[in-house]
Amino acid sequence: MILVFLGPPGAGKGTQAKILEERFGYRQISTGDILRRHRTEKTPLGVEAQSYMDAGKLVPDDLVIRMVEGELAHAENVILDGFPRTIPQAEAFAALLARKGLKSVAVIFDVDPVVLVDRITGRWSNPRTGRVYHEKYNPPKVAGIDDEDGGPLVQRPDDAADVVIKRLQEYEEKTAPLIGYYETHTDFVHVNALGEIAEVTRAIIEKLPDVGPEIVSAP
Ligand code: AP5
Repeated sequence: MILVFLGPPGAGKGTQAKILEERFGYRQISTGDILRRHRTEKTPLGVEAQSYMDAGKLVPDDLVIRMVEGELAHAENVILDGFPRTIPQAEAFAALLARKGLKSVAVIFDVDPVVLVDRITGRWSNPRTGRVYHEKYNPPKVAGIDDEDGGPLVQRPDDAADVVIKRLQEYEEKTAPLIGYYETHTDFVHVNALGEIAEVTRAIIEKLPDVGPEIVSAP
């Protein structure tokens, strides 16, 4: 199955993608994480993307589409987290799936915008693995340290409140129209993403009967 997670910044897409990765063996493809790695390594793509990311804007479609095509060479059992994010990206993705004879299911995270800034500004993440925590809602055992690999947790520069507002505007303008696109063009489910993290996971699994056999049970 190819799952496309669609929702605003802070909706919980990355959190849920990591949980399904561990429990059901999916591979998370997070365009945000890939772009951040390019930025850290100062690759030509990372250097070009940096100014857009720091300003809370979307990176140009042609750069992102080329980057994702390589990632999707093996597109079985993947969760796309943060892609597609514009209609041109969705059309390029649909063409790629058609060439491979594959289909996707969109998982649309429904969330009240009032919770988003609080979720994002309290987020701490492991830049190496992309695992995310929240200082109130999902704290690590030791502040600033990843429970899994002991690596340091950092706050993303684009999680500063002024940049978050720009990201939410970009979402409304360029990404929210994809909800209508997916409701017309592909299989989709809506998930209530307002509850606690475990409740949202249960809602996703209930809505996706073909999610696959569980390899690791819920804690
Ligand atoms: P990206 O990294 O994709 O950021 P985003 O879409 O803005 O999403 P977030 O990572 O902020 O939120 P999330 O939904 O994953 O929430 P999370 O699970 O972390 O993109 C960053 C930038 O890269 C973009 O601005 C753009 O510049 C560029 N980019 C990326 N893809 C692109 C593309 N396709 N095209 C163009 N540009 C692109 O959760 C948030 C917090 O809430 C965490 O602290 C978590 O612990 C907590 N939390 C999660 N669920 C719950 C819950 N149910 N209850 C309480 N707290 C919760």
